[in-house]
Amino acid sequence: MSLVDEYRRQAGWRAWSQAFAMLPSLHGQVVLDLGCGVGDLAAELVARGARVLGVDGNEELLAAARARGLPGAEFVQADLGALPDLGVAADGLWCSFAAAYFPDLPAVLGAWSRHLRPGVWAALTEIDDLFGHEPLLGRTRELLAGYARDALAAGRYDFHMGGKVRRHMERAGFTVERESALPDQEFSFAGPARPDVLDAWRARLARMQGLHGYCGQEYAALRDDFLGCLVRADHRSRARVVFCLARR
Ligand SMILES: C[S@@+](CC[C@H](N)C(=O)[O-])C[C@H]1O[C@@H](n2cnc3c(N)ncnc32)[C@H](O)[C@@H]1O
Repeated sequence: MSLVDEYRRQAGWRAWSQAFAMLPSLHGQVVLDLGCGVGDLAAELVARGARVLGVDGNEELLAAARARGLPGAEFVQADLGALPDLGVAADGLWCSFAAAYFPDLPAVLGAWSRHLRPGVWAALTEIDDLFGHEPLLGRTRELLAGYARDALAAGRYDFHMGGKVRRHMERAGFTVERESALPDQEFSFAGPARPDVLDAWRARLARMQGLHGYCGQEYAALRDDFLGCLVRADHRSRARVVFCLARR
C-alpha cells in the first residue's frame, strides 16, 4: 500500500468530529493546515466554510491533496521548519500530527505565528507516547525508549510531544483554551487491534528505517513483540492523542 493510501485510511480511526466541535465558526476564515498530508483535514475545514492553505514537505502527499479539487483550498510545498512568506494573514492554524517533528516547538510556533492575524485560534493535535502499549517485554520497552531518546536528542522527533503541546504553546505566547484527549482507534485503544489497524501498525513499523537501524538484529523480535501486544485481549494503551486549542 502506498503512503498516500496509508494516510487516507488513517482518517477513519481518528475522532476528528470531537476536535472540530471545539473550533470557532470557520465560515469565511482563511486557515493554514500545516503538515496537511493528503488533505483529509483540509477537506473537513473546507466543509465547514474555510478557505485552506495546506503546507507539506512531501510532494506525493500534496499531489493527492490537490487531486481532491477542494473548492477554496490550495496546497504548497515548503519546509515547516523554515516557512517562506505564504502571502496570507490567516484566521486560524490547524496542525495535526506534525508538531512532534519539531522538538523545539516554541520557536517554530513563533515563526508560524507570523502568518497569523493577531488574536486568532490555533489547534494542535499530537500523540503522547506513540509506543506506549502494554504488555511488552522489558527489552522491547528498553529499545523503544532508547530510540525515542535518540530521536529527541538529535532534534528529529519528540515521541512525548502530546504531553508538552500545552506548555510549548504557552511558552510561544498562546493562551490555551481547551486541552482534550481524543479517542483514537489506532493509537489509543484497549483490547485487541482490528485487523486493518494491525496492518497499519505493521506498515508503520516497516517504514521506520531509523528504528530498524537502532535495533539492528533485534528489530524482528521487537516488531513481533509489539504487534503481538496489540492483538492481546489484555492490551492497553498509555498513548494519548492530545488536542489543544489556543489563541494568540
Ligand atoms: C503524520 S503526518 C500528518 C498528516 C495530517 N496532518 C494528519 O493529521 O493526518 C505528518 C505530516 O507532516 C509532514 N511534515 C513533517 N515534517 C515536515 C517538515 N519539516 N516540513 C513540511 N512537512 C513536514 C509530513 O510530510 C506529513 O505529511
